[in-house]
Amino acid sequence: MINTHSFLARRKRLLSQLAPNSLAIIPAAQECTRSNDTEYHFRQNSDFFYLTGFNEPDAFLILSNQGDSSSAKGKSILLVRAKNELAEIWQGRRLGAEAAPSVLEVDEAYNIDDISHLLPAILDGHEQLYYSLGSNDAADAIVQASLMVCKKAPKQSMLAPKSIHDVNPIVHAMRLIKDGDEIALMQQSANISCEAHKKAMQICKVGMYEYQLEAIILHHFAMNGARFAAYNTIVGGGENACILHYTENQDLLKEGDLVLIDAGSEFQGYAADITRTFPVNGKFSEAQTALYNLVLEVQLACIDALVPGKTIADAMQLAVRQITQGLLALGILEGTLEACLEDDAHREFFMHGLGHYLGLDVHDVGDYKQAGNDKPLEEGMVLTVEPGIYISQKANVPEQYKGIGIRIEDNIVITSNGNTVMTQNIAKTVKDIEAIMAED
Ligand code: GLY
Ligand code: MN
Ligand code: MN
Repeated sequence: MINTHSFLARRKRLLSQLAPNSLAIIPAAQECTRSNDTEYHFRQNSDFFYLTGFNEPDAFLILSNQGDSSSAKGKSILLVRAKNELAEIWQGRRLGAEAAPSVLEVDEAYNIDDISHLLPAILDGHEQLYYSLGSNDAADAIVQASLMVCKKAPKQSMLAPKSIHDVNPIVHAMRLIKDGDEIALMQQSANISCEAHKKAMQICKVGMYEYQLEAIILHHFAMNGARFAAYNTIVGGGENACILHYTENQDLLKEGDLVLIDAGSEFQGYAADITRTFPVNGKFSEAQTALYNLVLEVQLACIDALVPGKTIADAMQLAVRQITQGLLALGILEGTLEACLEDDAHREFFMHGLGHYLGLDVHDVGDYKQAGNDKPLEEGMVLTVEPGIYISQKANVPEQYKGIGIRIEDNIVITSNGNTVMTQNIAKTVKDIEAIMAED
């Protein structure tokens, strides 16, 4: 659990990066209808959560450095749902404005119901507004209405901000580099997810349904404090593995097929994102072994290449070269290496990126470019490494490779001189996978 003082420190760090006399507004998420009068389980906006740790909908975080010569100071204001006895009996507890300052270490808190008259007064006199327009319709409407009140105040009695900047790049650059608390939580999420994959491997049998493996995974997540997955679980048997975001998970797992599971828990807000591919019957065929070992070799080489100063694009180039070489050696591609590279021939079989940032969001925020170039990796970044090969039934390749989809995905944290694989505790070689599946 990240303590409230760390959230306060993050808010101060954000404030220190704003121009003088600025206001930043970061809205919480709203509840979202699932059917009629029931909602999807509430998921907080990740930026808001990163800066507050507060998990209620409809709130606003407002930061001001007005009148502060020392930019590291400044003020945090929260607008939160009002306490309401009836709503709390029916829907759940609310923190309320009175308790918020001591519980969340904010300077002031008010009822969100009063935002339409509070926000114009708060905006008044700030020269710059930092707000991400276009990310949240309901919040945009509130902010725009308050700006209008400021701008149309009689005889210019109010001073509206002269410019509006997107606050996201500042917050997202902060989120890109994980602190120790975050890495510890991500390691827990990774551990829970590894164990879930291991259980699925152990229990898998010919004749089970894809959704039954999904159930094993989600049960393990929930039993270990991660009630929800970080993204919809993918369990694809046979050719279903070639559908990159297959989540129907309704088919029978058949003799002779591989099954691809891409599943990660969300633990205290933080995602893991792991893929393993293994034989439904516990034993890889010769063709499956050949393709699997190719993906594994590429993945291991890429992990070695993802170190401070290098880029994801550098590793992607390596992956493309090795996959192309491997596919040529297996007779899946034809021609010379240079011609295949020139034509991007790998794209028929490896059509996605090598990996992405990971954090509060599974596809986490943060720039991949810096001043027009690929962004070098830095200590504290967490990312996935996930090469794959997907061969459609329709592909013009030797028969034994048709309908095979393989991805191997791990999560790594960049350290000062290399990286650490956070998802080590789950079998990855043919030998280790077959051994685990043979256990009773
Ligand atoms: N699970 C989605 C991804 O691997 O990016
Ligand atoms: Mn994944
Ligand atoms: Mn991924």
